[in-house]
Amino acid sequence: MPNDLEQIRAEFDKSFSGSESVEELEKLKVAFLGRKGKLTDVLRGLSALPADQKKSTGEKANVLKGELETLIERKLAGLKNELYASRLKTEKIDITLPEVPLSAGHKHPLRRTIEEMSSIFESLGFVTAEGPELETDWYNFEALNIPPDHPARDSQDTFYLVDGKRLLRTHTSPVQVHEMEKRKPPVRLIVPGKVFRNEATDASHAAVFHQIEGLAVDENIKFSDLKGVLTVFVHKYFSPKTNVRFRPSHFQFTEPSAELDVECTICGGKGCRVCKGSGWLEMLGCGMVHPNVLKAVNYDPEKYTGFAFGIGVERFAMLKYGVDDMRLFMENNVEFLKQF
Ligand code: DAH
Repeated sequence: MPNDLEQIRAEFDKSFSGSESVEELEKLKVAFLGRKGKLTDVLRGLSALPADQKKSTGEKANVLKGELETLIERKLAGLKNELYASRLKTEKIDITLPEVPLSAGHKHPLRRTIEEMSSIFESLGFVTAEGPELETDWYNFEALNIPPDHPARDSQDTFYLVDGKRLLRTHTSPVQVHEMEKRKPPVRLIVPGKVFRNEATDASHAAVFHQIEGLAVDENIKFSDLKGVLTVFVHKYFSPKTNVRFRPSHFQFTEPSAELDVECTICGGKGCRVCKGSGWLEMLGCGMVHPNVLKAVNYDPEKYTGFAFGIGVERFAMLKYGVDDMRLFMENNVEFLKQF
């Protein structure tokens, strides 16, 4: 071995035997094998040597490099093992301690109701769409045949934004307009979503609640199609034995309009507190799409007809699960939610 390599080896051996910690060994590694290390210097200086020395010194320096690396790595591994062994002695996990119970969450009852209703309509060929909760007067009212100052606006206690232009949608019906603007007939869709009314809350009224809008537009759609779809829906959601009836009603965006009642699911039609003795429960509004609504989205009312409906989700969920106060769905009381 050339002199300086021997000298490097001797120096290394001396420091190596005195290095008893991980830090010291890391330092040693840098001092000899690092970018500016003693052995690295030799390897870097090889190119300046005469050709006959270059090869032999190079080989020896590389062998030495390998040896030093191995020595350091072995000692480091030994030290680390000792460290782990001593930690194992002091740090213990008592696996006999009882676990902290984890309770898994689940879907909110309203979400479940929306999913169940949507899947019934999807099985009948409807697709699900969504629309904005922040609306303009045009979509929430005018395009739905509710002109400014029309008394029908009174029934929709509206939250307006401070800009006086935008509002929180009071129903999901504006999404009918958005969707018809985007599509050409045939259209068959449902729109679940939140709606907002500026009104006092009680057991059957909330300022925020959910609706599912329905819309079908095509050539030759008739009132009997509407009756058929909604009757099948009620039979699938409640029971094939649940009786339904359609009562004439009024909505600006449908003509003719109707409300659908189901035989009281609590008393089976005999009359009780929930149906106020009538045996029937008002469940949803519906009707044939008004020609003015079709015109607002540039559909030809001579060629196309359609039906629409708006379902109050909370109402259906309350009857199905026997919940007598709508506010319970929004309070997020875990004791209530756990029961579903
Ligand atoms: N938008 C109505 C409401 O919130 C509900 C409704 C009634 C929707 C009749 C409809 C419909 O699509 O045809 O009071």
